Amino acid sequence: MGAVRGRLKAPKGTHDLFPPESERFAAVEATARRVFGSYGYGEIRTPTFEATDLFSRSVGDTTDIVHKEMYTFPDRKNRSLTLRPENTAGVVRALVERGLQDAPRPIRLWYAGPQFRYEQPQAGRYREFRQIGVELVGVAGAAGDAEVLIMLFAFLGALGFRDLTATLNCIPVGEARTIFSKALQDHARPQAERLGAEDRRRLEENPLRLFDSKDPEVARVLDGGPRTLDFLDEASRRQHEELKALLKAAGVRFTESASIVRGLDYYTRTVFEVASERLGAQNALLGGGRYDNLIGDLGGPPTPAVGFAIGEDRLIAAMQSDGRTARPVFFVVPDSPDELAYALAVAEEIRTAAPDAVVESDLTGRGLVKGLARAAQAAREPAQYAFCASGIHAVLLGSREREEKAVTIKDLSTGEQQTFSRAQLAERLGAGRER
Ligand code: HAM
Repeated sequence: MGAVRGRLKAPKGTHDLFPPESERFAAVEATARRVFGSYGYGEIRTPTFEATDLFSRSVGDTTDIVHKEMYTFPDRKNRSLTLRPENTAGVVRALVERGLQDAPRPIRLWYAGPQFRYEQPQAGRYREFRQIGVELVGVAGAAGDAEVLIMLFAFLGALGFRDLTATLNCIPVGEARTIFSKALQDHARPQAERLGAEDRRRLEENPLRLFDSKDPEVARVLDGGPRTLDFLDEASRRQHEELKALLKAAGVRFTESASIVRGLDYYTRTVFEVASERLGAQNALLGGGRYDNLIGDLGGPPTPAVGFAIGEDRLIAAMQSDGRTARPVFFVVPDSPDELAYALAVAEEIRTAAPDAVVESDLTGRGLVKGLARAAQAAREPAQYAFCASGIHAVLLGSREREEKAVTIKDLSTGEQQTFSRAQLAERLGAGRER
């Protein structure tokens, strides 16, 4: 192996997750599993890369994602592969591949995992980021949309979010979409010279994508132009009204906006997003919507579907609560190498007696004073540690404890210290936990 030159550095737009941050991600994913599981959603894991044309056929050739943000590479047999920029296409590919024809419906799935987009990195925007998402397949209409939104807010509520509001829109479909696109072109073409080259291309090829533009001038051009909600066909309008009624009845907070279209071509009718004021410029916490044509377009039997994906990195940045469950913590400190075997045995017994506890052993045998340093630091700065502590204890084991088969446990918050027989551990810890 050649020598590594220069300083090692993670690729631009990626970031490592160390404890305790990694623990927050794990805790959020555990909450997703619990909440989504309680609505009957099971976890799906799909490959991190797929055939490139899966994304051009689903997300859409004229979207920013496919046009300029994909990590695409040929493999050794010259097949074009792409690191997934999102997970809906992969989930649909997996379902179509397995065969949807005879599958019992609806199919309820959730996922968590890394996604890749070649974007300009900034706070909250990465080239590798994580999403937690949900897909409900085989339910048409407002009831399916309502279920995923109600479940989304149950999940956000379980993480401590109380003040979030969904923004809803309904994108015209079929002929109505063609008419709407044409109306957008008629409105914007006379002002085309105010648009950059990229947006002029959007205007001609796929005018709905103008709404994704990051150029504020585009928003000004679109202002006062045709509105999605005025172009809905009768069935779409009814579905949209029904969804609003279901959300009101369920107590989901939402507003309407005719200008969110969510950057992906597969959406039909319902789209939604949730933004958080606690994030900076990249304030979109999540996005989602209905994609009733995608499964048919990708070769499956025509099947309605709806889903969303949350930017997990942004979600955690916006969380005020810690996210981790507090656990009792025990630092087991042998006074010398002679007590090491005893300490390891006591540590195992504490783990058995208190299965939710974190039990860390000092492996150096450098004495009680030095061995206690880490415990004392954890007591001073508990947020720095992987575990979230509900009480920090030191378990002090000297020659006397070893000989008498005893343990001394010190509560580092009160300084209170007790010595009792090792045989009483289970009983004492059990009693302590009931208090
Ligand atoms: P999306 O709106 O492209 O939707 O992405 C969803 C969320 O992923 C965004 O709202 C944002 O929080 C997060 N996200 C996107 N790009 C980045 C980035 N570069 N860095 C950090 N976070 C990012 C989808 O991906 C659809 N598949 C959602 C869906 C599921 N629709 C139906 N089913």
